[in-house]
Amino acid sequence: MNKRQRWATRIGLILAMAGNAVGLGNFLRFPVQAAKNGGGAFMIPYFISLFLLGIPLMWVEWAIGRYGGKFGHGTSPGMFDKLWRNPLAKYLGVIGLAGPIAIVLYYTYIESWTLGYALYALFGKLPTVAKGASLQEINNTFGSFLNNYAGFNSGSNIFLKPSVFAYLIFLITLGLNVFILARGISGGIEAFAKFAMPTLFLFAIILVIRVLTLGSPVDPNVSVLDGLGFLWNPDFSSLLNPNVWLAAAGQMFFTLSVGMGAILTYASYLREKDDIALSGLSTASLNEFAEVVLGGSIAIPAAVAFFGLANAKNIAASGAFSLAFVSVPAIFSFLPLGFLFGFLWFALLFFAGITSSLALTQPAIAFLEDEFKIKRKHAAIGIGIFIFIFAHISIFIKGALDELDFWVGTFFITLFALMETIIFIWIFGPDNAWEEINKGADIKIPKIFYFILKYVTPVILIVIFTAWIFQNFGSVLKEASPGKWIARIFLISFFVFTGILVYFAFKKEKKT
Ligand code: PHE
Repeated sequence: MNKRQRWATRIGLILAMAGNAVGLGNFLRFPVQAAKNGGGAFMIPYFISLFLLGIPLMWVEWAIGRYGGKFGHGTSPGMFDKLWRNPLAKYLGVIGLAGPIAIVLYYTYIESWTLGYALYALFGKLPTVAKGASLQEINNTFGSFLNNYAGFNSGSNIFLKPSVFAYLIFLITLGLNVFILARGISGGIEAFAKFAMPTLFLFAIILVIRVLTLGSPVDPNVSVLDGLGFLWNPDFSSLLNPNVWLAAAGQMFFTLSVGMGAILTYASYLREKDDIALSGLSTASLNEFAEVVLGGSIAIPAAVAFFGLANAKNIAASGAFSLAFVSVPAIFSFLPLGFLFGFLWFALLFFAGITSSLALTQPAIAFLEDEFKIKRKHAAIGIGIFIFIFAHISIFIKGALDELDFWVGTFFITLFALMETIIFIWIFGPDNAWEEINKGADIKIPKIFYFILKYVTPVILIVIFTAWIFQNFGSVLKEASPGKWIARIFLISFFVFTGILVYFAFKKEKKT
């Protein structure tokens, strides 16, 4: 049997895991969620979610991953099979294998926009508007620039027509992902994270300093401090709204990359005695710093400083894309050396994105390597071709991207988090699970987390999952554009196909 690949250094491991977690979610999704859901008050359910869901799930995933790796399994089907001796277990693991790849089909495409925009910014090819321009004008210039780039204005109600440049940049982005992945865990992912993560933090800190020193750029009565106030002044009445709690928990899953299968795979390259308690906590802390401190101090405060509170509310309400690709580049175009800040912004997003897409793609590669003994390079290229083919659904079909994100990015994440928690804590057993988490630990995890893991986390997950279904199912299935149906049919076929692969993988294993 081949020797399993390993992380080369602890710092490399933590940077790779932080790269996994720190993504577009930190800089785009978080500020929009916070602004929409009660500002500072959002941070109350948010931090409660961090302690009762985020950190416990982080430890659960690191522990399951390291445990599975010991048996040569890098993905959830094999891991669940070892934790729960039931023929069904491996099929439950299909979600943690097919889910990440389904996300990659659109995540890589959006990541490629950030690369395209970074190049545009660097070469001064982004549009500009005069300082003091109205939101209307900005939407007209930057909004239509994005529409042309991604082909939203194709005139057809089924197809999008992205620019040739957007398509080429997508190919380059995908090629870069495959290239890094083909070089393996320590030679590819780890080496890249060691360069990309420090660069990302540096760029983010430069941007935060630039934004916090904006003062009152337009209206003497509105300063960037009002922007921080807008994000952080609590509106406590929002705590009565269950949607705010759901949004906080959803953001926690998404930002920490838990409930997906991506962390399981990264953790499978640990050695049996490696610490996970401290490393998992360090990863979560780095992610929270990048999210709350850095992610909260760029886009929204700058939007308030330039456009005032009421407009910033509209900007937040119009969503993460319009914040990233319309409002922020417009703001930077007002500033001296604006092209440079625009470049830093999009390069930052690109590094955040690519370190996450690597993590989302590695499970599929690990599956081919571990269960079918396919060579790493061949596996990486094979998966790359698969992504290339099926990413066309999100690139060219109207509404497909949102539909994929809706199912995989929220529904399956919660379902998978619930499944892995039940299998690890209740079926594998709370004491075994606790022992696994604490094996090799460099810190002593407070005993209260034993109780949290055993009761609190699973119960909250059940509540969230049920609430999600009540909230969404009725309305969702009524919506039926052709693009949504294409995405749904694709998802169902893809999950069934993965299930069949799992069947063959384990049939073979029994014989040998
Ligand atoms: N955590 C990433 C982000 O914040 C997204 C992601 C989810 C990455 C799941 C990997 C797995 O953008």
